[in-house]
Amino acid sequence: MAAAGAFLMLFLVSHLATNLLLLAGDGGKSFDKAVEFLLANPVIKIVEYVLFAGFLIHIVIGVILEVHNRRSRPVGYAVALKSETSTFSRFMIHSGIIIFIFLLLHLYHFFFVKIGLVDIYGGAESVHDFFPMVVYMFKNPVVSAIYVVSFIFLGFHLKHAFQSAFQSFGLNHDKYMPAIKFVGTVYAIIVAVGFSIIPIYFLFLY
Ligand code: HEM
Repeated sequence: MAAAGAFLMLFLVSHLATNLLLLAGDGGKSFDKAVEFLLANPVIKIVEYVLFAGFLIHIVIGVILEVHNRRSRPVGYAVALKSETSTFSRFMIHSGIIIFIFLLLHLYHFFFVKIGLVDIYGGAESVHDFFPMVVYMFKNPVVSAIYVVSFIFLGFHLKHAFQSAFQSFGLNHDKYMPAIKFVGTVYAIIVAVGFSIIPIYFLFLY
């Protein structure tokens, strides 16, 4: 689960970097070039399959673990743990479910268009012409709000996920844990804020 999660965390960095090109102010030219480059690269096709497998593995194992934990302790602890780690870790399944619902909506908005399951919209000229679709989507305040709220939950999910992955790989050490937690928090903030800027920009500034 941690390996799949770590892969997804790397994907988010590359997806964020590509999507930030939407803000270049050139009508989507740089973004289109990046999409063209990705489409032309056969390795990316394989990475896409690995990505979906990664999501599937991560979600299935996450749900199995949650069910197992609940079965092992159907009655909660009499005294609630107060540590920060336990607060975030206890809500991983909830933030995970919200991210999963977001993902279904998100795939419907863009990926399903690319594979021809949903018609193009927003004045797009082809299934790969994402810029007009992004503008059309984020001009809708309800869609933008759903995206930003989802990114906030994603940030909380990642904050715990980052340090948890180190623990799962056995790379945690008392001495380095504060640094790992700090880097995890910075990573989570960059991802949540970085993605949120995009709908906010198109809703208010474009
Ligand atoms: C404002 C933020 C975002 C924008 C504008 C955006 C935009 C896009 C676009 C245009 C595509 C289709 C590209 C293609 O299929 O070649 C796509 C695909 C995808 N997005 Fe996003 N995305 C955002 C945030 C996210 C987040 C936060 C996640 C994960 C939690 C995510 C996961 C995916 C996945 C799994 C795909 C399909 C795989 C792929 O085609 O690479 N996206 N996104």
